[in-house]
Amino acid sequence: MIKQAIIPLAGLGTRLLPLTSVFAKELLPIQGKPSLEYILNECIDAGIKEIIFIISKRKMMIKKYFYNDKFYKELIKKKKDTRIIEEYKKILRYRKMIKFVYQDKPKGTGDAVLKTKKYIKDKYFLMLLPDDLIIKKNCSKSMIASHKKYKASVMASMNVKKKAVERWGIYKLNKRLNTTDYLIDSVFEKPNIKDAPSNKAVIGRYILPIKIFSKLKNLKPNKGGEIHITDAIQLLINDNEKFIAHNFSGKYLDCGSMEGYIKSSKEIAKL
Ligand code: G1P
Repeated sequence: MIKQAIIPLAGLGTRLLPLTSVFAKELLPIQGKPSLEYILNECIDAGIKEIIFIISKRKMMIKKYFYNDKFYKELIKKKKDTRIIEEYKKILRYRKMIKFVYQDKPKGTGDAVLKTKKYIKDKYFLMLLPDDLIIKKNCSKSMIASHKKYKASVMASMNVKKKAVERWGIYKLNKRLNTTDYLIDSVFEKPNIKDAPSNKAVIGRYILPIKIFSKLKNLKPNKGGEIHITDAIQLLINDNEKFIAHNFSGKYLDCGSMEGYIKSSKEIAKL
């Protein structure tokens, strides 16, 4: 069973400037709800019991969102407004599941994952990157089903345009397991177009083995000076750890760029 999820939230959000000069991008609303709540709901619906947020001092706003008790209590006392009471109850329900850890320097996704090491209890855990919203079908849930079937690590996968491979982690595929799952031969972080082995990209959902921490511990910064989870995954593949690429059937929305963020609002409005 996958019971724990981690969500890296210490990113600077430069693609969403100027909004992110004062605001946490994960709290920006999409149809009246912070994008982070869509991610939380995906986790809860997939059976996750504990969620670890990796934040930084710059992103304390996220902690405040879940710990603003005095504000709510005083308001509820004064106004007795049922809508406010329901919103506060919702926040408290989320909060029961959330733990906070800190990554004060944005050194990359691999470094963010390493910060959660002492909290991970089981053999496998889920990671969701909050820029990547997947709607219409619960991607985490279908990945957990593949994980159960093959007893392997899993990453969400999607075909991207050939000229866009430099933006993504890109796989070389091995064997086809079924209509949606493929064994991965190797994975490369943001390769040049001429070196890319395919146009199959890693999307921000991962079921990772606890073994990944031993690889992350010694990992050096790579592409763009960051410590990448992709590099630790490749080291595990070299040790014959099975990784599956799962072609999800939901719709992918990129909330991390201004264009994508605006489009996400429109797509979610149509649901
Ligand atoms: C990260 C990963 C990359 C993956 C992408 C999915 O990149 O490093 O391999 O394809 O997420 O969104 P980032 O978006 O942090 O640049």
